Amino acid sequence: EKGGYDYFMLKEIAEQPKAVADTLLGRIDASGSLTLDEVRIPASVLREVDKVVVVACGTAFHAGMIAKYAIEHWTRIPCETELASEFRYRDPILDQRTLVIAISQSGETMDTLMALRHAREQGAKVLAICNTNGSTIPRESDAVLYTHAGPEVAVASTKAFLTQLVACYLVALYLGQVRGTKWGDEIQSVIRELDGIGTQVEEVLETMEPVRELARSLAGKNTVLFLGRHVGYPVALEGALKLKELAYMHAEGFAAGELKHGPIALIEDDLPVVVVVPSPRGRSVLHDKIVSNIQEIRARGARTIVIAERGDEAVRPYADHLVEIPATPVLLQPLVATVPLQVFACELATARGNEVDQPRNLAKSVTVE
Ligand code: F6R
Repeated sequence: EKGGYDYFMLKEIAEQPKAVADTLLGRIDASGSLTLDEVRIPASVLREVDKVVVVACGTAFHAGMIAKYAIEHWTRIPCETELASEFRYRDPILDQRTLVIAISQSGETMDTLMALRHAREQGAKVLAICNTNGSTIPRESDAVLYTHAGPEVAVASTKAFLTQLVACYLVALYLGQVRGTKWGDEIQSVIRELDGIGTQVEEVLETMEPVRELARSLAGKNTVLFLGRHVGYPVALEGALKLKELAYMHAEGFAAGELKHGPIALIEDDLPVVVVVPSPRGRSVLHDKIVSNIQEIRARGARTIVIAERGDEAVRPYADHLVEIPATPVLLQPLVATVPLQVFACELATARGNEVDQPRNLAKSVTVE
């Protein structure tokens, strides 16, 4: 049932192009508009929404962080993303015009469930993004957008994460479409690019051998840091989480702009630092800033592992290891940038002799607080 792979995780990483395509299937019509009929919240209600709150845990929370960038950019509705376990205990401000998005692969995570119950009690509308048909979270929500990743068996979430991202983009673009924003043309073109993104994920998967080799060479290390900014920041957090849970290594993700406010003190000789570089087009200011960050940490001895768009020549001189990913619209980059980090963590865990599918102390579905 592992389909020839040693681990479910490897199989699930490989299934990502299909998972992404399946999650898009039937949701984009021939004219390139979104048809999210399953979002049963009427367009009139969605047009009145004045705040979006995304709640989730773990990897799903990282998808939610990326959703915030997408939702605020394409819809101009204020959006906050919060850990479900924090949200429900701090008396959050919610009302009928708040749209709460609860993201959960299993649909059974207790903290996320309690958060959505709390939100509904306050009158907010709840849209679940979920991978498990008929599970508790979608059953208790006003509407559900299912991700079609198929069953995810490995404890560490991979394909579910990519499909959660797709679902978040769909919701953001749909809200933009329903409400009409000045980004109408951009929304149309991003929908087209999203529709073909599975091919780019496939391209990344085909070029992972050097990443595996690099991972094996780092098996004796104790710490790996991850840096990113904009949507690359949650990608850095996700890369660090994968490494913690699978390789049992000290791994931390930082917003690259925070480097000078503390984390740079951690940099020492030969410390591996993974840097997720934003596209040189679009947000080019961010690109230049991260290139200086790479220079700074390298000057202090870091071993730089740079994930950058193919053809990004500016980073090459400072990359001890360069991992090239296909060009995508700025906001969609996490769909391709996360994949090398999954492969990296999986291979490092294997090299350290860890049980990849069943990391110690973890359960696939966290139904207790
Ligand atoms: C990490 C991982 C967990 C889950 C988290 C939420 O690889 O799998 O962090 O993402 O426990 O689970 P769901 O999405 O089922 O609510």
